[in-house]
Amino acid sequence: MRRPIMAANWKMNKGVAETSAFAEAFLPLVSGASAEIVIAPPFTALASLASALAGSAVALAAQNTHAEASGAFTGEISPDMLKELGCRYTIVGHSERRTLFGESDEDVAAKALALLDRGIRPIVCVGESLADRESGKALEVVARQVQGSLAGFPTDRASDLVVAYEPIWAIGTGKTATPELAQEVHSAVREALTGAFGSGAEGIRIQYGGSVKPDNAAELMAQPDIDGALIGGASLAPESFAAIVHFDSGA
Ligand code: PGA
Repeated sequence: MRRPIMAANWKMNKGVAETSAFAEAFLPLVSGASAEIVIAPPFTALASLASALAGSAVALAAQNTHAEASGAFTGEISPDMLKELGCRYTIVGHSERRTLFGESDEDVAAKALALLDRGIRPIVCVGESLADRESGKALEVVARQVQGSLAGFPTDRASDLVVAYEPIWAIGTGKTATPELAQEVHSAVREALTGAFGSGAEGIRIQYGGSVKPDNAAELMAQPDIDGALIGGASLAPESFAAIVHFDSGA
């Protein structure tokens, strides 16, 4: 059984003070949740969120990393620095990084390996554009991204990997993929993972992302290959993120 994993991607939202207020309101709402919970605040709030989460089951994550361990990379942050702050996960290859900052599959693969090397689990994002979908290429594009972004990932570490499928046209638009459409791609992602990892692919959690909300989380999570969610907008308020975490409460 794959344990559901719900991850908040705050993007460029919330400084230290807002992050502390969130943690204070959120933690009591999710004690005893069956899903694994992850929060990825901006870099500047990682240290304070690490303290706020101490003693809770909620895991800390970063939204990006550089692949190198140290050096002349002005403005960048290394996996070691994230490890030191207590990050257990880090998002790599989000579509905003790919489209706004020019990250390639090769860049993403290098970051995923660098994280793994430091004992941080990568959440590797893939997803097609609207143009890819309209031209019938969604499955092909996503399978290629999975292969390229996981090149060299050791097969015996498959269980440390999380993949997030986020159709670009569904991110921040309020347009969620239907559960059936999402499942179709998740199943193609699982197939690509099986090509790379063999039977280990069965243990890899594949999150769906793109306008996940409290009222659509349960139907998405009911699909056989959807093992969690990567949540942007709806993760910014403690109540709505907690409601998504409790997707299985039947409420
Ligand atoms: P959204 O963002 O939930 O606001 O659509 C998801 C994401 O980009 O990770």
